[in-house]
Amino acid sequence: MSLVLRSVRVEDLDECHRIEASRYPEDEAASYGSIETRIHTFPEGFLVAEKRGRVVGFINSGATSKVDLADEAIKGMIGHDPLGENLVIMSVVVDESVAGSGVAGALMRSYVAQAKDGGRRAIFLLCKTHLISFYEKFGFEWICQSASSHGGAEWHEMVVYIV
Ligand SMILES: CC(C)(COP(=O)(O)OP(=O)(O)OC[C@H]1O[C@@H](n2cnc3c(N)ncnc32)[C@H](O)[C@@H]1OP(=O)(O)O)[C@@H](O)C(=O)NCCC(=O)NCCS
Repeated sequence: MSLVLRSVRVEDLDECHRIEASRYPEDEAASYGSIETRIHTFPEGFLVAEKRGRVVGFINSGATSKVDLADEAIKGMIGHDPLGENLVIMSVVVDESVAGSGVAGALMRSYVAQAKDGGRRAIFLLCKTHLISFYEKFGFEWICQSASSHGGAEWHEMVVYIV
């Protein structure tokens, strides 16, 4: 059965939250309320992957012209401007049942292509050290080590310019 990539719908909230909570450490996972806010505020920046009618992964994000990855307010969509020239990715996550089968890769390629079609300038994100090579596969470049030591981890800022 093929993978369907589409914008999020309000009814995806429970499943998205279940996947987020099951795959991110507790102190990193977005809350139910945060995911709900992201769905309502910027569904165009919230891409889901569906298999046999079930959500199996997603990417969500905000838009802004003033990128400050050290400022976590964007995670709650504070500072989000739908017309902002840059996108900031918050979550990239797939359900355990499909891990390693190319779902995140398909989501990432589609997300970057959509950002390009939408005329955005760049996509930014924060990631842990072990995922730098994952994002490099989709054109992202390392910018710097982040000032954030959230959860005791080492974080890195990455960007892909798409214009
Ligand atoms: C990271 C994550 C999204 C990858 O999802 P996935 O669907 O298993 O990834 P894919 O199967 O699409 O892999 C795509 C490519 O990335 C590579 N890749 C996958 N996970 C990787 C990892 N942890 N580190 C480096 N490369 C990785 C794959 O080998 C594959 O490479 P290829 O195209 O050259 O074969 C998934 O492990 C996940 O949900 N993790 C928990 C949440 C998380 O940490 N998200 C990242 C937040 S910054």
